Amino acid sequence: MKLLILGANGFIGSHLCEAILAKKNWTIAALDLFSDKVSHCLSHPRFEFYQGDMTASSDWLTFQFKNCDVVLPLAAIATPALYVKKPLLVFELDFEANLSIIRQCVQWRKRVIFPSTSEVYGMCKDAVFDEEKSFCVTGPIHKERWIYANIKQLLDRIIYAYGKDQQLNYSLFRPFNWYGPKLDSLTNPHARVVTRFIGNILRQEEIVLVNGGEQQRCFTYIDDGITALLKIIENKNNIAHNQIFNIGNPAENVSIKQLAKLLVEIMKDYPGYENLTANKTIKILSADNYYGEGYEDIDRRIPAIHRAQKYLNWQPDIDLMTGLKKTVKAYLV
Ligand code: UGA
Repeated sequence: MKLLILGANGFIGSHLCEAILAKKNWTIAALDLFSDKVSHCLSHPRFEFYQGDMTASSDWLTFQFKNCDVVLPLAAIATPALYVKKPLLVFELDFEANLSIIRQCVQWRKRVIFPSTSEVYGMCKDAVFDEEKSFCVTGPIHKERWIYANIKQLLDRIIYAYGKDQQLNYSLFRPFNWYGPKLDSLTNPHARVVTRFIGNILRQEEIVLVNGGEQQRCFTYIDDGITALLKIIENKNNIAHNQIFNIGNPAENVSIKQLAKLLVEIMKDYPGYENLTANKTIKILSADNYYGEGYEDIDRRIPAIHRAQKYLNWQPDIDLMTGLKKTVKAYLV
């Protein structure tokens, strides 16, 4: 099988490429603007890397579309601070550029495996979010945070419609707060919460709990996510054909405040950080002050994973403490 992976140097892309080369005999054609996270893959005989922008690489892309079996368009902006600060940039990359890729999948009749997101459920009030039953609930237009959720939701709907109307062969997966090594740069001011907090602690800055940090997330270790993704790609007996899967860890639902405390505990084991205490390290800011007025949050978001269990025979098995320790270690070494 030959895969075309766009955004291969991202968090999910880089872990996926590494896992494929180690565990499968598939071939990868990969594109990204940068190659630092896949540098160890570059010399592999089953890995072809093209450094460039997917919106400006049409000859290379056309060649790869003709020659691949499956396309994974993983290039997207996925950090909430940028949904608020740069919503049009999010629209141009996450929506326009990816819609063009989906249309090429239709044109070349290629299977597409598309990253949807836990964010499509928005502020849904269900106790657990179900792919086939839950409503997608987003806020008013001036709350720009929802542009990402609405873009992804619309792309999900477009892909679904292409599936019915033009026989597009697709699978959608919805990561629920996947985290792990290589998530975001520790110095990125827009980094997602796990990397933001590790960076704060390393620089001996205060950790900011937005709106008090009572909001909850189900954190899912990247290796669990990649295991699910490999099964989706493999598609044994067509199990993932035209399906949507939540890929998350419902057992690891914690508040952001708890997450901060866990990270402080873990970091205390490292030389130089023995005297860290959660009380001195943590401060509270309003969302308006931290992100700006365009931000609105999700109180809790727990995935139903019965579909992934049934069809993919998958379930997460890395607990939060283990995953956070591995993540901290990878960033510190
Ligand atoms: C994420 C991102 O939108 C995407 O990466 C992704 O599609 C999806 O959700 C997912 O991975 O499931 P979110 O969970 O809000 O959204 O991302 P974070 O930036 O990691 O924030 C998590 C929570 O921590 C939010 O409530 C945020 O307000 C809070 N936070 C973040 C803080 O309290 N302090 C900080 O310094 C940063």
